[in-house]
Amino acid sequence: MEKVLVTTALAYTNGPLHIGHVRSTYLPADVYTRFLKMRGVDAIHIGGTDNHGVPIALQAELEGKDPEEIVEKYHEMIEEDLERLNIHFDEFSCTCREFNPDHVDMTQWFFKRLYEEGYIEEREVEQLYCPECERPLPDRYVEGVCPYCGAEGARGDHCEACGRYLEPVQLKEPKCVICGSKPEVRRTMHLFFKLSEFEEDLKKWLKSNDNLPKNVRNYAIQWVREGLKDWDIVRDLDWGVPVPLERYKDKVFYVWFDAPIGYVTFTKQYCNRTGQNWKDYWFSEDTKIVHFIGKDIIIHHALFWPAMLIGVGATLPYTIVAGEYLTLEGEKMSTSRGWVVWVRDFTKLFPADLLRYYLIVVSPLTRDADFSWEDFRDRVNNELVANLGNFVYRTLSFIYRFLDGNVPEAETDQEIVDRIKETHRRVTKHLEKFRFREALTEVLRLSKFGNEYFQEHEPWKLKDEDPERCAEVLRGCARVVKALAIMLAPFLPDSAEKMWQSLGYEDSVHDVDWEEALKDVEAREIPKPEPIFPKVTEEDLQKAKALLPEESGESEGPDDEYVSLEEFNRLDLRVGEVKEAERIEGSDRLIKLRIDVGDRTVTAVAGLYPTYEPEELVGRKVVVLTNIQPKEMFGVRSEAMILAVGDEPALLTIDESKREVEPGEQIR
Ligand code: 2FM
Ligand code: ZN
Repeated sequence: MEKVLVTTALAYTNGPLHIGHVRSTYLPADVYTRFLKMRGVDAIHIGGTDNHGVPIALQAELEGKDPEEIVEKYHEMIEEDLERLNIHFDEFSCTCREFNPDHVDMTQWFFKRLYEEGYIEEREVEQLYCPECERPLPDRYVEGVCPYCGAEGARGDHCEACGRYLEPVQLKEPKCVICGSKPEVRRTMHLFFKLSEFEEDLKKWLKSNDNLPKNVRNYAIQWVREGLKDWDIVRDLDWGVPVPLERYKDKVFYVWFDAPIGYVTFTKQYCNRTGQNWKDYWFSEDTKIVHFIGKDIIIHHALFWPAMLIGVGATLPYTIVAGEYLTLEGEKMSTSRGWVVWVRDFTKLFPADLLRYYLIVVSPLTRDADFSWEDFRDRVNNELVANLGNFVYRTLSFIYRFLDGNVPEAETDQEIVDRIKETHRRVTKHLEKFRFREALTEVLRLSKFGNEYFQEHEPWKLKDEDPERCAEVLRGCARVVKALAIMLAPFLPDSAEKMWQSLGYEDSVHDVDWEEALKDVEAREIPKPEPIFPKVTEEDLQKAKALLPEESGESEGPDDEYVSLEEFNRLDLRVGEVKEAERIEGSDRLIKLRIDVGDRTVTAVAGLYPTYEPEELVGRKVVVLTNIQPKEMFGVRSEAMILAVGDEPALLTIDESKREVEPGEQIR
C-alpha cells in the first residue's frame, strides 16, 4: 500500500512557537495528515526540533548555560504549544546530539555514504579567528559592516539590512561578538558537498515534477540557473554532530547538513517503535514524501536536500509546500521587539480552533497574510459563530425541544443529498491540491446553505401544521450537521468532535471515514445542545490587543526617504499572462482582464483603452502587482494591478529573447 510521509520543518529551539510558525507549516501539515488518515491512507506526520547551529550555541554562551539546557527548555515549550493547538505528530523528536544519539548515527551514515560515493571534497578555507578568545569565529560569532550595503551590525552569515548571505571573511571591520576584539584570518580544512555535480539532476527533477507548487519550483530553478556552488558542510564549533574523521575531531557538521536528516532519523525512530522498516519510507518508490516548510527555506529543501537524497540513492520529495509570510497588524513580526503573538498567550484567551480557523481562511497559504485582532474578531463572529455555529445550534436545539430530542426517522430532500455530495467532492479536491483556504471556505458554504434551507422551510410553523414534513426538514438539517462535522474534523478538531457528539454519536469523529460524510445520519437521541463557538467580545478583544506592545517600533528604519529591502519584498510582483480582456461597460478607459499569475487567475481593472484594444492584450505577458488591496470599480472587483508607464499607458514588457518566462515568476 502506498505510504505518505508528511514532515513539518523543524523549529529551532531558541524560543516557543508563535502564530507565524503555525500558519506557514504546522497547521497545514496537520490538516493534511488528518485528512489523509480519515481517507484511510497510510500517512504519518513526522517532526521535531532543530537543536544545533551557531545561534543556539551563542545564546547558551551569552547566558552562561550549556546548549543542552536551552534545547531542553524550548523543546518542551514547543511540544506544549503544539498540544495546545491539537497539532498531532506520529513522531516528534529532536536532533540534539546529547538527547538523540540516533540522529548522530543517521547524520554520520549520510555523510559516509556521500563520502564513499565521491561527493565530498576537502578544501582549504579562510576563516576568522579571535586571538583573544583563542578560537575560530564561525557565522554569527562575528559582526561587522556589510560589504554590499554598508550596514553596521551585519552578521557573519547574513545581513539583515540588505538580506544577503555572507561569509565571515567578507565583513568589513569585523569584531568578535564575545570579546569585541579584531579577529585575524587563518586557514583551515573544511569538507564540501559537491552540489555543483547535481545541477543537471536537480534541473531535471524540478522541471519534471509537476507536483511542486510554482512558488517553490520557480524559485529553485532560478537558483540552479545562476549556478550551484559547492557547499561547506563543516563548522569550527563544538556544538553539533561530530564529523566522523580523525582530522576533523574538533569540528562539527553545519546545522543545515544535519537538520533535514532529522526527518529520516525520526522516521526510523517511529518505525522502530511500530515494527516497521524506515527504508520502506525513504528508499521506496511507493512512498510520497511531502515537506511543509516556510518560504525562507525553499533553497534548503528544493536544492540542498534533494541533492543529498540523490547522493545516497534515497527517494526524492513528492512535493514541497512552502507557506508564505504572516505579518501582524500590517507589520513584520519581531520576537526581539515583542511584536508577535505567542501560541501560549493566544490559547489562554481563546480556544485553539479559532486560531486554526482564522489562519486558514485569512489567505491562501501561497500568499502572504496579515493577522489583525479586529479582523480575527469579525471573522470569528460573522463566519464561525453567525454562520456555522448558528446553523448547528439551531438545528440541534429544534430537535431537542420540539422532536423529543431524537433525530427523526424520515426521508431527506434530494437537494440536501446533492449539495453535500458536491461540497464533499470539492473539499476533497482542494485538500488533495493543498488548497486549504478554498477547502474550508467550501465547508462554510455548506453551513450557509443549511441556514438558508432551515429559514426557507420554516420548521417552527411546520411542527404544528405538517409534522411529517417538519421531520424531513430536520432530518435533512441533521444530515448537513453530520457532513459538516466530518469535513471540519481535519481543520477544527475540537469543534468537529463537539458537533459529532451533539448528534448523539459516542465514538470520535476522528475515527470516522471521510466518505461517511456522504451517508445518512442515524436516528439517535441527542444530548442537550450547547453553542459550538464562543463569540469574541469587546472585552476579549481588549485583552488580546494588550498582548502587543503599545509602540510597535515601526519607525525603526534609518530614514523614511528610503524603502528597505523588506518593504520592497512585500510587493508581490509577478509575471502574468493575460487570458481574457474586455471593455467595461460605461467606462471610457477601463478594461477588465483575467490574468494567469501562476498559482491562480486574478481579475484586474486597468485604464488601457483606447491605447490598447482588448484583443491585443490577450496572450501578452505583463508585470502584475498581485497583493494590492482589492478595489471595486464599475462593479468589478480588481484584485491586481498591471504596471504601465504614464497616462497614455505603455505596458512594461518582458524580455524573452534569452529564455521563456512563465506566468507566476517573481519579479525582483
Ligand atoms: O529555518 C528553520 O527554522 C530551520 N530550523 C528549519 C529546519 S527544517 C529541516 F531541514 F530540518
Ligand atoms: Zn574574542
